[in-house]
Amino acid sequence: MFWRLFTRSSDIERFRHGESPWALVTGASDGIGKALVQTLASRVADATQPALVSKVAEAVVGKRLTIAINNVGDVEGPVQIVENATPEDIERSINLGASWLTQLTRVLLPYLIANQPSLMINIGSLVAKHPSPYLAIYSATKAYTLAFTHALAVEHRKPHPSLRIQYCEVHGVATPSSNNPESFIIPSPQTIAKAVISSVGRRSDYVVPYWPHEFMSWVLAGLPGGWIDAMLETMFREKRTDIRGDK
Ligand SMILES: NC(=O)c1ccc[n+]([C@@H]2O[C@H](COP(=O)([O-])OP(=O)(O)OC[C@H]3O[C@@H](n4cnc5c(N)ncnc54)[C@H](OP(=O)(O)O)[C@@H]3O)[C@@H](O)[C@H]2O)c1
Repeated sequence: MFWRLFTRSSDIERFRHGESPWALVTGASDGIGKALVQTLASRVADATQPALVSKVAEAVVGKRLTIAINNVGDVEGPVQIVENATPEDIERSINLGASWLTQLTRVLLPYLIANQPSLMINIGSLVAKHPSPYLAIYSATKAYTLAFTHALAVEHRKPHPSLRIQYCEVHGVATPSSNNPESFIIPSPQTIAKAVISSVGRRSDYVVPYWPHEFMSWVLAGLPGGWIDAMLETMFREKRTDIRGDK
């Protein structure tokens, strides 16, 4: 954590080059995505409809895309045991968290490669490393995001040294859909968006952008796994949506 005091600030300007650079942010009509768009304050295309990969592909033709942020995830999904999930719950969560990320990446990478220096940021979660009970499917999609981003970053490191691919570990954020009240450890979407943009340029392709979250990750890394499981089980049992009024 402390090495951050000695590193330079955000490298984002490096990725805003050429006459008309564009950024694409998925899930940008609300929450962290909306705040990212406001923070980037440049030409930004929102992409929120997972069924419309081909539409996004059409929309980026002729645009100088230099930044892509895969932000959308199934935060609003039910908190429940897997056997209570409907086929639609499962499909929505995996589509939004894994398929959409993969399909969109396939379509956007050629543009990012052509327009280097360029940047892809994939928004992840604490639950990728510490999967949450009652959020098994969502946790699995975030573990997918983490593995996918790392493999992708390594694939491109040598052939495309000016294409930066970065995973951001995000913890609780006070977005409308998460229903979390804002606090020091649950910051506003604007605070997280600024932290995400500031984190660009750090050496690692795995970053925890908001420092109190980074501190929490550091503490959790030193705790026995069983303690973390028990803590998460208690926390999310309270939030279960499949047994409301029957805890
Ligand atoms: N909030 C947290 O506490 C938290 C914690 C850790 C990680 N994260 C991660 O941060 C990212 C953003 O989270 P957030 O809380 O900002 O999310 P959010 O507020 O739920 O995101 C809202 C955006 O996602 C779009 N979206 C949601 N469901 C959709 C669907 N089924 N199809 C298409 N678009 C959909 C919304 O578009 P419409 O308005 O058009 O539906 C909106 O633009 C996610 O990857 C999430 O996993 C969040």
